Amino acid sequence: MKQLFLFFVFLITLNQIHSQENLPTDYLSKEFHKGRREAFRNLMPANSVAVIFSYPERVFSKDINYNFHQNPDLYYLTGYKEPDAVLLIFKETQGTDQTYNEVFFIRERNAGKEMWTGRRLGVEGAKSQLGISTAYNGKDFKDFAIDFKKFDKIIYDNIPVDIRNNTTGFDLFGLIQSFKTKAEITKEDPASLELFRSITSTLREIKTPEEMELMRKTVKLSCVAHNEVMKAIGPNMSENEADGIHAYIHRRYGAEGEGYPPIVGAGANGCILHYGDNNSTKIDNQLLLMDVGSEYHGYSADVTRTIPANGKFTEEQKAIYQLVYDAQEAVFKICKEGTPLVDLNNTAKEVLANGLIKLGIITDPKDVKLYYPHSCSHFLGLDVHDKGNFSGPKSGLKENMVITVEPGIYIPANSKCDKKWWNIGVRIEDDIAIKKDSYENLSADSPRKWQDIEKLAAQKSTFNEMKFPKI
Ligand code: GLY
Ligand code: MN
Ligand code: MN
Repeated sequence: MKQLFLFFVFLITLNQIHSQENLPTDYLSKEFHKGRREAFRNLMPANSVAVIFSYPERVFSKDINYNFHQNPDLYYLTGYKEPDAVLLIFKETQGTDQTYNEVFFIRERNAGKEMWTGRRLGVEGAKSQLGISTAYNGKDFKDFAIDFKKFDKIIYDNIPVDIRNNTTGFDLFGLIQSFKTKAEITKEDPASLELFRSITSTLREIKTPEEMELMRKTVKLSCVAHNEVMKAIGPNMSENEADGIHAYIHRRYGAEGEGYPPIVGAGANGCILHYGDNNSTKIDNQLLLMDVGSEYHGYSADVTRTIPANGKFTEEQKAIYQLVYDAQEAVFKICKEGTPLVDLNNTAKEVLANGLIKLGIITDPKDVKLYYPHSCSHFLGLDVHDKGNFSGPKSGLKENMVITVEPGIYIPANSKCDKKWWNIGVRIEDDIAIKKDSYENLSADSPRKWQDIEKLAAQKSTFNEMKFPKI
C-alpha cells in the first residue's frame, strides 16, 4: 500500500514538472496531424514504410544549443516539438494481430533532465496530446522488431550526417544508426528521396483551413510590425533597432519568433539579397529594406517593405519603387488557379526590364538579371521557402496554395548606370492565398503604395515615446 502511495506521489511530481499553464490554445489540433498522416499514407505505394527523423540540435556556443527547431515535415505529421525522434508510417497495418500502422519513438521523460533543459512530452503525453497510440521511448527503437527488407519501398528524406553522438544510443545519432543497421542502408537511395519529396510537396503545397488560419495570423501580425516600424523610423535609428521593433511585436502577438533571419538593410545593405548583419548604426536618408516575417505556431510569414528613413522618397527612389510596385501588380493579376508558376516570374521580369530600359538603366532586356537576380515567387508555410511542386506535370497554381510575390530591383554602387541610382535597393513582398479565379493578399494590412507609406511614416509610433537611460 505504501509503495502504491509512493508511486502516485512520483506520478504527481512528474506530472507537476510536466504540466504548464497559460499556453496558447490555437496550435494545430491532434486531429489535424492525424489527418495529415492519413493523407501521407494514401500517397504511399503498396507495401511501403516511411521513416521521418526530427532535426538535429545545433550548437550556439560551447555547451549551449540554439533553441530547437523541429523538422517541419515531422511537425506537420505529429505536432511534436522535441529533438531525438523518429516516426514510422506504414502503408498497411502491421503486427501479428494487425494493430498498428504507425510508430513514433521519442524522448523519454526524465525529471532531472527536464529541470535543466525543459519539459518533455513523453510517451504518455504523445498518446494523450498528440493522439499517437503507438508511441515508445527512443531507447526501444534499437530492439523494435521490424524487418525493413520485407517492404518494397522505404521512403525517407536526406538523413542528416553532421550530428553529434552523445553516446547514449537513444538520441538522433543512435536512432539513425539503428535505422541504417536495420534497413541495411549504406548509401541513400535517390528514388526514395524523390518519393518523399514528392509526397510531402503534394501535401504541404495546399493549405487546409486550420493551416490557413495560422497563415493569416502570422502574416497579419507581421504587417502590424512593418507598420509600426514605418511610423517609428527616423534617420537616427539603427538597422538593429528596427529589427528589434519587429521582434517585439511578433512576440507581443504570441509568435515564437521569426520564420527566417530578418533582413533589415539600409541603402547599400538593401542591395544584398540575404543581408543579415543588420548592424548599421544610422539609416540617414536612405531606403530601408525590411524583409521580416514572424513564425507563429510553426507558420512563417515573409513580408518585405522598403521605406524611406526620413519619411519621403527621393525622385530616384520613387521611380525604382514605382517600377517594382508595377511589376508586383502585374503578377497579382495572373494569380489564380491554373497559372503556370513560371509565368509569375516571366511577367515580373518583363515589366522590370521594360521599366529599367525606360529609365535608361539598361538597354538590353536580358540585363534585367543584373538588377533583378532572384525570382518572383515561392511557396510559403511551415518553411519560409515551403515545399511544393515547382516544376513538372503537377506544378501550376492551385486553390489554397500560399505563395509570395516579391519582385525587386537592387542597384549596388559602381553599377554600369548613372550613379544617381546607386545604392537603391527595393523589394516589395506580399503573401498571397490562391483562389479559383483570383487571390487574397494576406499582407494587405501593410501599405505598399509609396503615397500610403509616406502617409503612415508621418504618424507617430508608441516606440517614439519610449525613454531609456543613457549608458
Ligand atoms: N525572406 C526570404 C525570401 O524572401 O525568400
Ligand atoms: Mn520570400
Ligand atoms: Mn522575404
